[in-house]
Amino acid sequence: MALDALPSKAEKYASVRAMFDRIAPRYDLMNRLMTAGLDQRWRRASIDAIGVGDGDIVLDLACGTGDLAELCARRGARVIGLDFAGEMLHGAQKRGVPAVFVQGDGTRLPLRRGAVSAAVCGFALRNFVALAPVFEELARVLAPGGRVALLDVDRPTQPLLRAGFSFYFDRVVPLVGGLLSDRQAYAYLPQSTVYLPPAPELCETLSKAGFANVQHRRMLFGSAQLLTGELPA
Ligand SMILES: C[S@@+](CC[C@H](N)C(=O)[O-])C[C@H]1O[C@@H](n2cnc3c(N)ncnc32)[C@H](O)[C@@H]1O
Repeated sequence: MALDALPSKAEKYASVRAMFDRIAPRYDLMNRLMTAGLDQRWRRASIDAIGVGDGDIVLDLACGTGDLAELCARRGARVIGLDFAGEMLHGAQKRGVPAVFVQGDGTRLPLRRGAVSAAVCGFALRNFVALAPVFEELARVLAPGGRVALLDVDRPTQPLLRAGFSFYFDRVVPLVGGLLSDRQAYAYLPQSTVYLPPAPELCETLSKAGFANVQHRRMLFGSAQLLTGELPA
């Protein structure tokens, strides 16, 4: 795979933020089209996995246009959505998602220690410059016993499925994305999976940040992955 759409580490923060500002108007449409609605099924599975519900105060980290925030709110949780891209947050507000939205950086959360009971994060891990500082911030803002669910894409390991997935993800998605939204962004998004460490390393980084009962599971033959954990009570 040619990794020509990936920014250098130094450029990543600014270029990813600018990219999400650009694609915000068509972000929801593209997500539903690209995954045939599976993205929402995976988001629901994520909040099911940590039992988000009434009485929870949930941080939706890198909330984008607020899909996870909305699903959590529908289950009776009070939700804070945080993202660094103003246009993505604007999209969430335009949709009327019942949450408080804050513009900010995932490595410097504007929340006090132990402020939330659960945190969710959808399809954003590969966009952070580094994961350890983000996981440490999550551990800081979660109350004892707090749960976390981190969802992202993955690539199947079975060779035939991997080839089919790669054809779709690396060829079709950039083509359709280029026609309907932004060619450069939809070339970056599939390639950015290379930023994701293997599952054991993801689990170890979350454990080192202070989380217990860390679990990693693959969904739809490895097209998506979910990392969960909880802070000791
Ligand atoms: C692929 S979108 C996912 C949006 C949403 N969570 C979802 O499920 O559709 C990734 C989001 O991560 C945000 N993001 C990336 N790095 C960030 C950072 N350091 N701090 C805050 N938000 C960040 C981007 O602005 C973008 O909205």
